[in-house]
Amino acid sequence: MLQLTHEGGGNQRLVIRVPGWPGFDPGQFVMLSPGALSGVMRSDPLLPRPMAVYRETRSGDDCEIEILFKRHGRGTALLADSLPGQRLRLVGPLGRGFQVPGAGEQALLVAGGTGVASIRELAARCAEQAGPMPRVLLGARSAVDLMGLSDFETLEVSLGVSTEDGSLGREGRVTDLLEDVLAKDEPFRVYCCGPTPMMRRVAELAEAAGRPCVVSLENPMACGFGVCLGCAAPMRAGGYALVCREGPVFAASDLSWEGMP
Ligand SMILES: Cc1cc2nc3c(=O)[nH]c(=O)nc-3n(C[C@H](O)[C@H](O)[C@H](O)COP(=O)(O)OP(=O)(O)OC[C@H]3O[C@@H](n4cnc5c(N)ncnc54)[C@H](O)[C@@H]3O)c2cc1C
Ligand code: FES
Repeated sequence: MLQLTHEGGGNQRLVIRVPGWPGFDPGQFVMLSPGALSGVMRSDPLLPRPMAVYRETRSGDDCEIEILFKRHGRGTALLADSLPGQRLRLVGPLGRGFQVPGAGEQALLVAGGTGVASIRELAARCAEQAGPMPRVLLGARSAVDLMGLSDFETLEVSLGVSTEDGSLGREGRVTDLLEDVLAKDEPFRVYCCGPTPMMRRVAELAEAAGRPCVVSLENPMACGFGVCLGCAAPMRAGGYALVCREGPVFAASDLSWEGMP
């Protein structure tokens, strides 16, 4: 690990040098846990934590990746206490990420909470395409909770922000901003990541407006590559899909939101 910055609101920015990093698709994730302590492998936490790959920086064969995460429970608290030079355990990139929209397609990205970290790379790649400027809507409880805002401000995107306490942007939920944008009747394709109730509402609004919508699920994961079956999500057609292997990105209309954890 090269650098850890505490950004307020419990948000942490971790920069990790990853030899042999193969590159990643937006929305792909890594399984991350603190490495050895005084040369001894730790069993606390027993399970690694899934984290979206926020950004990569390459120079020659060397690659650094960035992770933005919120201090939440035991696993993220230990990661937040990592020190520069400490080795971390990382497996990835994993999962099936977002398909970047083609040039000319209009993208509407909606994210809340830690879901903001999963959509930055998609926003950056959409911004590089010729064609209509992508719209990005970000929501958080309060200004201090909002992750990565300054990074989004440097992208060529049309940015909207909401906070539940009104400390930044529009007061209310990000879905309030979404309703206004969908009312404009533009042919957006919606890309979303955030807490499950928020994604469910985004999926309902997109469906009601006749817009295609994909979501990136943040189900708890124990292994990250299809072995433990702990991340299964119920599907509308019946049965379950493994979020780590078949997702985390799914068409919102394929999911059974009623049965979602
Ligand atoms: C694909 C993906 C990307 C994510 N990206 C980010 C990100 O970029 N930034 C960010 O802040 N957060 C992200 N998250 C959420 C993040 O993984 C959780 O906030 C984190 O795991 C919490 O860990 P904790 O130890 O702090 O919390 P705790 O609540 O103490 O522990 C949560 C952990 O408990 C275990 N667990 C709980 N329920 C189950 C279960 N049903 N099956 C198996 N194991 C279980 C898992 O190990 C789980 O990770 C992402 C989640 C996913 C699925
Ligand atoms: S996290 Fe183990 S199967 Fe998905």
